[in-house]
Parts: sequence; C-alpha cells; structure tokens
Amino acid sequence: MTRAEITISHITKNHATSGVFIEQLNGLAAQWQHDEEFWTTESCLESIKTQPHVISAFATLNNDKTWSGWYLATYEYDQAELLFVFTSKQQRGQGIARALLSDLIAQIKNDANILVLSLEVRPSNLYAKRLYETFGFELISIRKNYYKNGEDALVYQLKIRQ
Ligand SMILES: CC(C)(COP(=O)(O)OP(=O)(O)OC[C@H]1O[C@@H](n2cnc3c(N)ncnc32)[C@H](O)[C@@H]1OP(=O)(O)O)[C@@H](O)C(=O)NCCC(=O)NCCS
Repeated sequence: MTRAEITISHITKNHATSGVFIEQLNGLAAQWQHDEEFWTTESCLESIKTQPHVISAFATLNNDKTWSGWYLATYEYDQAELLFVFTSKQQRGQGIARALLSDLIAQIKNDANILVLSLEVRPSNLYAKRLYETFGFELISIRKNYYKNGEDALVYQLKIRQ
C-alpha cells in the first residue's frame, strides 16, 4: 500500500475566527466529544485566542482539505505543554500523530528558552503512551483520580535541552 502523504499546516491566532477553520475543527471535535472527554470546539478556540503563546497545527492527507488530525500546545517561559493531539478515527495508524508531534517538537526547539515539553495521558491510553515513549518522553509523576471517571493522569515530560 502506498503511504499517504501527510501535510502539516500551522495555525495562528487569526485562524480562530475563520469559518473554514471552525468548520474543520468541528469535524474532528464531533468525533472526540462522544467518548474522549476532550475539550469543546469553543474551549479550543478560546485557548487559541487567549493563551499568550500557542503552537498548533493540523494534518491533511494527500492534499485533501479535510483535517485528519491536529494538536494544540501552549508555552510560557521555559515550559511547554501539549494539551492534546488527535487523529481522525478512520485515519489512525498511518503516522499522522507521529508527524504532528515531530512538528511540535521542531517548533519548540526553535525557541531557545523552552527546556521541557510535558503532557498528561491516561494509563489506559496505550497507543498514546507508546507514541510518547517512542519520542523519548519520560513518566515524571502521577496525578491521582485526575479524570472524571476516577482514572489517574500520567504526567510525561520530554527534555528539549539541558
Ligand atoms: C493516540 C493517537 C493520537 C495516535 O494517532 P495515530 O495518527 O493513529 O498515530 P500514528 O499512526 O502516528 O502512530 C504513532 C505511534 O502510536 C502507536 N500506535 C498508533 N496506533 C497504533 C495501533 N493501532 N497499534 C499499536 N500502536 C499504535 C505506535 O507506537 C505508533 O508508532 P509506529 O507507527 O512507529 O508503530 C490516536 O489514537 C488518537 O487520536 N487517539 C484519541 C486522542 C488521544 O488519545 N490523544 C492522546 C492523548 S491527549
């Protein structure tokens, strides 16, 4: 099978007011809002608009306009945080999240002040855990009963520079 061509496009604060952007984000959010306990489209947009420093990008496959995945991260001083990364359910296992995360790490490395990238993940989210571990993220702490269903949150961190 030919591997799909993944294109990563960066999102700026101006996008948060664009109708096309909101429509595409809604398309992905419709998938995660049922079972992922993720944010609403509105809270994503609010974050992009109000957080002082946001890094975000979406992925498309084979020049299709429909978003196949996206990530949202913020940073302040020497700390960056991945708020989430999501791949469309029909398009998982094709390297989209890997491409998105590679992009995020490359963006962060461009900012000489950022020392670490951290994130939270559920212990039950085996694919995400595997993904993060292959990038060299290390488990640094556990937040007990963090999620609504009582599940803990694993806090992972990637050292960007010493
Ligand atoms: C976790 C998630 C982002 C992975 O997206 P994806 O585009 O399918 O991931 P990729 O195809 O880039 O795979 C990256 C790595 O994840 C792991 N992985 C992904 N799908 C997998 C599968 N079906 N079986 C085993 N491992 C898998 C592997 O380590 C894989 O690396 P490899 O391809 O070198 O083996 C996706 O499952 C998702 O959106 N889940 C819901 C949202 C979520 O949980 N986000 C993370 C927490 S914020």
